[in-house]
Amino acid sequence: MTANSQLKLDIENVMSVRVGSDHGITERELKGIRNSAKQAIKKCMERYHAGEIGFMKIPHNYSALEQINASARGHKNRWENLVVIGIGGSSLGITMLSDALCHPYHNFLDRELRNFSPRLFIIDNIDPEALSGLKTIIDPEKTLVCIVTKSGGTVETWGNFFQYLSIFDYKPKEDQIVAITDEEEGFLNKFAKIHGCPILPIPKDIGGRFSVLTPVGLFTAAMMNIDITRIIEGARNMHDSCINMDFENNPALQIAAITWFLLTRKKKVISVMMPYSNALRSFSDWYGQLWAESLGKRTSLSGATVFAGQTPVQALGATDQHSQIQLYREGPNDKLISFIAVESFRFGGPMHKAPEGTPLEHLRFLDTAEVLNIELSGTREILTQSHRPNLTVTLPAVTPYYMGQLIYLYEMTTLYTAILLNINPLDQPGIEAGKQYVRDSIEKVYLARTGDA
Ligand code: PA5
Repeated sequence: MTANSQLKLDIENVMSVRVGSDHGITERELKGIRNSAKQAIKKCMERYHAGEIGFMKIPHNYSALEQINASARGHKNRWENLVVIGIGGSSLGITMLSDALCHPYHNFLDRELRNFSPRLFIIDNIDPEALSGLKTIIDPEKTLVCIVTKSGGTVETWGNFFQYLSIFDYKPKEDQIVAITDEEEGFLNKFAKIHGCPILPIPKDIGGRFSVLTPVGLFTAAMMNIDITRIIEGARNMHDSCINMDFENNPALQIAAITWFLLTRKKKVISVMMPYSNALRSFSDWYGQLWAESLGKRTSLSGATVFAGQTPVQALGATDQHSQIQLYREGPNDKLISFIAVESFRFGGPMHKAPEGTPLEHLRFLDTAEVLNIELSGTREILTQSHRPNLTVTLPAVTPYYMGQLIYLYEMTTLYTAILLNINPLDQPGIEAGKQYVRDSIEKVYLARTGDA
């Protein structure tokens, strides 16, 4: 594996020769798909060159990367705990990166084994128990709090921060809070300025679900000693592939065009994301938000009512072979299943040498990773035999570099799919309406209780 090697994409099992022409793509259809893809990349490149797609600038924004690294350096080795408060795009990417790249039992390791990085607690939902539970395990004096909200006004995030302050009855010093928010406006921006807390800016043109490679995801990653420069190098490498006009060498364009075709012509209305690696379990959650929020749109760019979208479903191999696969194999044939395979694992090793004559004694010739990958091949095969289209992305290993590639691959895939569906992937009117409703309801309660109603 070289520094510049790349994720591999295998689309063989979406073709009709493998899964039949009712559910797969014929050679003739593939020609049509290539033509549509050509139009999509043209439109994408026009918008990219006009500077309209914020997240596509990230791989070349060296100064933003240096600012994040410098800020993390100022906090390194100082804190026993890092509490990150944010929700949606302001937490899912952080969880994905830390689950993928930290030790699987990071918070249980002692300081030296953690290489002096803090224990990490990500608080997203406004569930009262999640925060109260922290009271028994962290000392607020030894804790850095990172508040993440692009808009600056998300109710759950502020609710959690206020609850944090009240359960500990503690006022953090100004260097104990890092605010990650819009560069110019919003309530968190104001709050940070009033209280003298440093602000790490989220560029205006990058929305929550596309923001993991900004300070939103990278500050925490740097605090956890993850090499964020390598993450960005991986993203940069993938950027080059994903703007390649040649369909066969552009993995995002291929996945997007296949998805669009199977969704609109073969009714594959569900997108299952199934990594075979615990480290990538949260990748599926991050992908779920990216896919649902970007593609779930009522209207097309021309104003027609289209109710676009493909429902994302999170699964984990091999665990979900023991639950969801029954449905995928024998239930409605309405899914495109994406597997993420990993070639080489950080930890692992041979199985215990079971004595001859015991059940499954032949496991002794294999290590855990081999068994996992045999399970993946088996699942791919049985689904294909049942005419269920599926594709596989293979990572040489779960490293910062390949995570950068994987993240950028799916951001670009989302963008191309939206272009093909003729919808805007960068807004989220449905989410905004929900947020406004919550704010209004809270205000009504406030007015009723203060007698101002
Ligand atoms: O992708 C999005 O825009 C949303 O999911 C947001 O990330 C989420 O609502 C949190 O918003 P904010 O970062 O403004 O607190």
